[in-house]
Amino acid sequence: MTQPAISIKNLSKTYTSKDGGKKHALKNINLEIPQGSFFGLLGPNGAGKSTIINILAGLTLKSEGEINVCGFDLDKQTRQVKQSLGIVPQELILDPFFTVREALDFHAGYYGIPKSKRRTGEIIDALSLKDKSEVGARRLSGGMRRRLLIGKALVHTPKVLILDEPTAGVDIELRRQLWDYVRKLNANGTTIVLTTHYLEEADELCDQIAIINHGEIVAANSKEKLLAHLENKMIIFRLSSEITQIPANLQSYNCKILKNNRLEIQYNPAEVQISKILEEVTKSGLLITDIISEDAKLEDIFMQITSKKAA
Ligand SMILES: Nc1ncnc2c1ncn2[C@@H]1O[C@H](COP(=O)(O)OP(=O)(O)O)[C@@H](O)[C@H]1O
Ligand SMILES: [Mg+2]
Repeated sequence: MTQPAISIKNLSKTYTSKDGGKKHALKNINLEIPQGSFFGLLGPNGAGKSTIINILAGLTLKSEGEINVCGFDLDKQTRQVKQSLGIVPQELILDPFFTVREALDFHAGYYGIPKSKRRTGEIIDALSLKDKSEVGARRLSGGMRRRLLIGKALVHTPKVLILDEPTAGVDIELRRQLWDYVRKLNANGTTIVLTTHYLEEADELCDQIAIINHGEIVAANSKEKLLAHLENKMIIFRLSSEITQIPANLQSYNCKILKNNRLEIQYNPAEVQISKILEEVTKSGLLITDIISEDAKLEDIFMQITSKKAA
């Protein structure tokens, strides 16, 4: 088996405040991010996503655990780890006095890339920053700053690109452009790690998903497998006439009468087959004119998992 892009073992982080109070931001996290994957780290605000990213970036010290990036130990092979990772932080921090071109060029210099091998122009083109290339960072809009930060993360052609909530506050058009570009990088072999609390985004982009809640990984699997394990599915029947009462043979199901002659049934696909539900509805004498079945969404899983933990 090829080694994972990132392997995290028993990672914990406790923040200690000045008054001695402790915050267990990460509790024994174990994660493997396969090479070449488009990996989504999902979780509500405060779950611990940025703490993981900041530890990878060397900005935050872990309390316990082991991290390997492309086979290199985060503590002992810092230089190789830095070369392997490109990190786009959640905060839009830039040196306000550099132009876009300078920021990219100096950053490449920081990685020791000789002038002849720098990809400054290529990155400016790829991220549609050409019009702004001679503009100082302080005059860039939020979306442009985000692009510049992505550009900076790419100057050394990292094997793994990590994006911490990259589309917070970014308009739809730019979001689409960004994703097209990141998808291309992924198709060319770059491992992508994305943290987000926009589930639709992860649903659309990611092939591997981990869900973090209160500093713990509560689910980690391929997106397909996660969706397949959804316990709660819903089917809606549109009927030929108004329904006022749930038929006797359907009363053991989780039924709800909706407006416009519709009947909703929630079921657990692991326990009940859809054909059985159809059979019962037909038997009850209700005339079906249409059936609406929605694909399971990441959002449903997320709600199930996070609400269970809170209970
Ligand atoms: N420097 C810090 N000092 C103390 N607590 C922190 C610090 N940074 C983050 N935290 C806390 O750790 C938890 C996880 O934060 P964070 O990793 O930023 O979450 P996320 O990125 O998932 O929103 C939160 O409860 C947050 O308040
Ligand atoms: Mg965060």
